[in-house]
Amino acid sequence: MSKKIIIAIDGPAGSGKSTAAKNIALKLGFTYMDTGAMYRAITFLAIRNGIADNIPAVIKLARGIDLNLKSENGVTRVFVDGEELTEQIRTAEVNAKVSDISRIPEVRSELVKIQKKMGETGNIVAEGRDVTTVVFPEADLKIYLTASIDVRAKRRLHDFEEKNISISLEEVKENLLKRDKIDSGREVSPLKKAEDALEFDNSALTPEQDLDYLLQQIKEVLKKNENK
Ligand code: DC
Repeated sequence: MSKKIIIAIDGPAGSGKSTAAKNIALKLGFTYMDTGAMYRAITFLAIRNGIADNIPAVIKLARGIDLNLKSENGVTRVFVDGEELTEQIRTAEVNAKVSDISRIPEVRSELVKIQKKMGETGNIVAEGRDVTTVVFPEADLKIYLTASIDVRAKRRLHDFEEKNISISLEEVKENLLKRDKIDSGREVSPLKKAEDALEFDNSALTPEQDLDYLLQQIKEVLKKNENK
């Protein structure tokens, strides 16, 4: 059987990781792994259960979770104990709390276990904050995607507008900066560029140009693998 390929993409919120990873997955027939969706699912449940500020209870929740992601035509559907939470995990309320939940080391280790297991199943393109450094340090290609804060905020605002959620650009920017600070500053698995990751700023690019560049990089990696 041929070797399974893992492409790992990290970067701050709004850097275009999800769009790029989804497009790559669709183009190459790989499985798309949205690790942020997993942290969001735990955060949503913790808020709904009224335990978001109770760390031991959140850890217990993470340890017992039956979490499934289904990637279909570029859309990640999220299920916990069979209940679909795809829409609920993308609210401003979840955005405001998710970085606090994801800095809990025990929550991270539970989710990393699930992610590594998913990584054994086939060719995948994974995206998040620690997929290049902790989850898949052995990935065939590691990418650190960035964009300016203004561009990232406008992209997120556009996502909200598409869902008819009313929020100001300033509020979006504030949430992104706050999340950047917590995600990059936390002790366990902070967001950072892996030494051997390819850093790529896509502020001035359209999603199509971004995808073209990344596919080019992937092609090189696949070619090298073929020649091994
Ligand atoms: O990619 P996203 O915006 O959906 O991620 C939501 C949050 O989840 C993000 O602010 C930090 C956390 N996260 C993480 O800590 N590690 C990951 N691998 C993915 C996301």
